[in-house]
Amino acid sequence: MAEPVRIGIIGAGGIANGAHIPGYKAQGAAVEIAACADVNRATAERTAAQHGIRGVYESYDDMLQRERLDAVSICTPNKFHAPAVIAALRAGCHVLCEKPPAITAAEAREMAAEAEKAGRILTFGFMFRFSPEVQAAKRYQTAGALGEIYTGRVTAVRRRGIPAWGVFTSKELQGGGPLIDIGVHMLDAALFVMGYPEPASVSGVTHTRLGNQPPGVAPWGAWKHQDYTVEDVCNALIRFTNGAALLLETSFIANIEPMEEMNVRLSGTKAGVKLFPFSVFREEHGTIVNEQAAWQPSGNNHHREIAHFVQAVRGQVAPLSTPEEAIRLQRIIEAIYRSAEAGRSVDA
Ligand SMILES: NC(=O)c1ccc[n+]([C@@H]2O[C@H](COP(=O)([O-])OP(=O)(O)OC[C@H]3O[C@@H](n4cnc5c(N)ncnc54)[C@H](O)[C@@H]3O)[C@@H](O)[C@H]2O)c1
Repeated sequence: MAEPVRIGIIGAGGIANGAHIPGYKAQGAAVEIAACADVNRATAERTAAQHGIRGVYESYDDMLQRERLDAVSICTPNKFHAPAVIAALRAGCHVLCEKPPAITAAEAREMAAEAEKAGRILTFGFMFRFSPEVQAAKRYQTAGALGEIYTGRVTAVRRRGIPAWGVFTSKELQGGGPLIDIGVHMLDAALFVMGYPEPASVSGVTHTRLGNQPPGVAPWGAWKHQDYTVEDVCNALIRFTNGAALLLETSFIANIEPMEEMNVRLSGTKAGVKLFPFSVFREEHGTIVNEQAAWQPSGNNHHREIAHFVQAVRGQVAPLSTPEEAIRLQRIIEAIYRSAEAGRSVDA
């Protein structure tokens, strides 16, 4: 049997414990989680004790130097993705970095260049790509069943969904609010199905009106409004060089109807799709019809993502999400924030 893939975890908080470590453990003997590193030593120790991880580090540089790792998962706040990715690639590791890939397009470019130089895999935690719905939409698109996709709507809204934990309300540590945290998931899913078209320009608007006020009803816990430096809401029109356009709507907090909606609707010249629940919209035999999947496989998308990463490290499959796509995605996100700041459309 092949040697187990030796994994290191950088950042041992919520997503590491909730998704990455269980995902690797689900791989059984194919994987050994050899070490974890967290700037908060107590967090690293707690995680290691809970999961039987031998190596415990405060500094990921020490971990990368001392352990012979094949690959790492990067699960730190967004600000530390780029430096951790670059350090891991330089240490010869394959890298699965949580979403968003980075905060800026420049960081994404630097990470991509480093992966190229190191000849290692760099892929990202866009677990929705592994969902049966996104996979189905991609198969329809690849088969030509949608025609040319030229318009769509990307939705990632919460009515009262400001995380009261972690650093999700810090512009400095996360790079922004709902756009870079949850909007990025649905935007990536839409772009993936569309074939990642080249962005041309964006017009973005952000508002911070409620998150910086003392919390009223807070189903996700009372956040620290004094430290709230990200947007509540972001709307954007994204234009692509192929003429296609997407409307994006994302929020942590807004006075809207659904408590939460994560979805993508895309319309092509032959048919349209909605991701959740997976639906196809078209005209057939003189009738306007909606079709829905009668069955979709169940399962955990994080586990699917981790299983795919391990297979990619073994050279059995190609990574699903690439550094080149990450650059396009970060260009769009950065341009939306720039446009909102400038109060006008900007090139992406
Ligand atoms: N794919 C998803 O659905 C999903 C869900 C949640 C979070 N995330 C992403 O995962 C990342 C982490 O989020 P989280 O919810 O786990 O946050 P978290 O705050 O629970 O955990 C982050 C951990 O990183 C540690 N850390 C900070 N700086 C570090 C550094 N320089 N080196 C090592 N460790 C460091 C912190 O001490 C903390 O334990 C974010 O990028 C977030 O966007 C993805």
